[in-house]
Amino acid sequence: MMGENMKKIIIKKANDIKGTVKINGSKNAAIPILCTSILTKGRIIFSNIPKITDIKIIIKILRYLNCKVRWRFNKLIVDSSKIEYKSLVIEECEKLRGSYYFIPVFLYLFDKCDILLPGGCSIGSRPIDAHIEAFEALGFKCMLKDNHLWIRREKAINEASITMSKKSVGASINAILASLKCRYVILDELVLEPEALDVIAFLKEIGFDLDALSHKVVFRGFKGRVDEVVKYKIIPDRIEAMTYIVMGLLCGDVKIKGANADHFKYPLELLLKAKYNIRFKRNYIRAIKSRGNCFDIKTETYPLFPTDMQPLFGVLMAYGKGSSVIEEDIFENRMQIYKDLNSLGFNVNLIGNKAYIIGSLINEPINHEAKDLRHCAALLILLIKNGGLLSNIDLIKRGYNSIFYNIRNLGAKFKIK
Ligand code: EPU
Repeated sequence: MMGENMKKIIIKKANDIKGTVKINGSKNAAIPILCTSILTKGRIIFSNIPKITDIKIIIKILRYLNCKVRWRFNKLIVDSSKIEYKSLVIEECEKLRGSYYFIPVFLYLFDKCDILLPGGCSIGSRPIDAHIEAFEALGFKCMLKDNHLWIRREKAINEASITMSKKSVGASINAILASLKCRYVILDELVLEPEALDVIAFLKEIGFDLDALSHKVVFRGFKGRVDEVVKYKIIPDRIEAMTYIVMGLLCGDVKIKGANADHFKYPLELLLKAKYNIRFKRNYIRAIKSRGNCFDIKTETYPLFPTDMQPLFGVLMAYGKGSSVIEEDIFENRMQIYKDLNSLGFNVNLIGNKAYIIGSLINEPINHEAKDLRHCAALLILLIKNGGLLSNIDLIKRGYNSIFYNIRNLGAKFKIK
């Protein structure tokens, strides 16, 4: 059943799209970096912060903590000189996963944190045991009841060597942040995606002394206070970039400006090997409608295939030549797109966490409801290609800045109701 209040996007007659889009700053880098910005207790001028729902929630939390946060054109200025300790048992924290980056920042500033975390979400159960293990190894006592986490410093730890027990992006960033008060820490088996490396670059910018070496971070304390005002630019969003690439490959001809291809080399190489028409120019990547070969995909941690791109590639493979097996090994509930493709008549079988696809050329209009951010992006591409109706589209605003403006500029003709 479709909810009555959900916003819908409708395309009566699909047409090819063509034009240029500019990639925004990375959501998954901007969220932890904004949380971390209060460590300086000073003023930071950020550029490339995406104007998306998740960031608006982080800004709301920062203001609740007595920080001054304002947009000046496309720059976001955060002044945390008057930051105060407050309980984070508030509904905003429950709204997004990334609010847990406030925990180690609070531990650094106040030695304690009370926070309400999101429970499971539509893409999977999402436990935080690996975060807690790292906090405990660094001297904090944690109590988690339902989704309320209570955490206090129990002892001062100056030196530590910690090997992460799980491959987790969030736990890796949180372990790094929770080490900031120590004199010397080695963290091993981290997942250091480009977004985590951006957090490390920001920490260096504000005066911490640490180095990232493949899966490891060596932290050597604080070098001393930095200047009052720090300027920092967030890296481009590789998932947003790939969304427009897949859009171009299926729906027309899209030039993508401002992306950093080094951040998503592996999936790009898969596409090139499968003979999709992608051209690399000095300041843009161009994706042109083409039917490449199918290939198998297994989601993994960086630098291998990212789970956030899996639903997009599912749609691409459904139109490819040959057959493909897509295996999701990170989030158990990220397979909804294959049920949708099946309902549209595609030759797609979903068995557990694997989708078996035989590529075909089906141009049925869609009539579907988005269940999570990346599922919404994948369905939006199908909608642009074939027309129809997609509901619950507000979800896309969690991760894509100005996406409706962009697709209108590319020539898509749609109505939003
Ligand atoms: N896991 C545990 N215990 C933990 C932490 C994680 O079992 O303590 C498991 C998770 O359940 C999952 C796997 O480890 O099966 C990986 O989860 P991870 O912690 O790496 O994910 P995350 O940090 O919660 C971030 C992004 C996600 C992205 C994943 C994987 C943010 C705010 N979120 O989540 O982004 O899918 O890494 O790359 O950075 C999205 O942008 O759509 C999105 C969901």
